[in-house]
Amino acid sequence: MGKFKQEDHKLTFRVSEDILLELPEEDVMYFSERKITKAKPVVLVFSVEEDGRIEKIGFVEFDLRVLNRNAYITYYVSPVWRGRGLGKLMLKKAFDFAFRELNLHRITAEVYEYNERSLKLLEGLGFHREGILKEAKYHDGRYWDIIILGMLRENWKDR
Ligand SMILES: CC(C)(COP(=O)(O)OP(=O)(O)OC[C@H]1O[C@@H](n2cnc3c(N)ncnc32)[C@H](O)[C@@H]1OP(=O)(O)O)[C@@H](O)C(=O)NCCC(=O)NCCS
Repeated sequence: MGKFKQEDHKLTFRVSEDILLELPEEDVMYFSERKITKAKPVVLVFSVEEDGRIEKIGFVEFDLRVLNRNAYITYYVSPVWRGRGLGKLMLKKAFDFAFRELNLHRITAEVYEYNERSLKLLEGLGFHREGILKEAKYHDGRYWDIIILGMLRENWKDR
């Protein structure tokens, strides 16, 4: 077939929330697995016991890509509990769980360049900087880079 000419067939588009075409098997490889699987994130909620009371102090969320055995992580420690080593402890427990029970192959984090605490935390646990999304985050009147960090299962096993 020759080159498509707009004079012969009008090319139009409509705005849509999702792709309406079915993907043939041989083209699935070009798309994120999110177009095929939609696993719900796994969230670990952490608590501490204090004076007989159980208090929730933070969470670690794994946004799973099940085919790739990869997960994007988000984590949070309540402000009053920060700076005491709990973030590090929580992540260690969560990564042990992720590699042993969720059977992940890698863990990925996207951290905003101004989040020094988070960068220090991940690098302290052996994550490597793998790339940068230039000016991909807007905050407080300007654009900031997003730093991609990763940890492979084999590197966590050594720890
Ligand atoms: C990031 C966060 C989870 C860290 O929790 P935390 O309990 O304070 O962490 P820790 O006390 O275990 O400290 C982690 C590391 O950060 C360092 N750190 C602590 N306070 C810091 C600060 N103000 N600036 C820079 N580094 C700091 C610590 O030295 C420690 O590194 P080390 O183990 O090499 O000494 C917490 O600050 C938080 O919930 N922040 C808001 C949400 C967030 O940023 N989530 C991450 C999104 S990617």
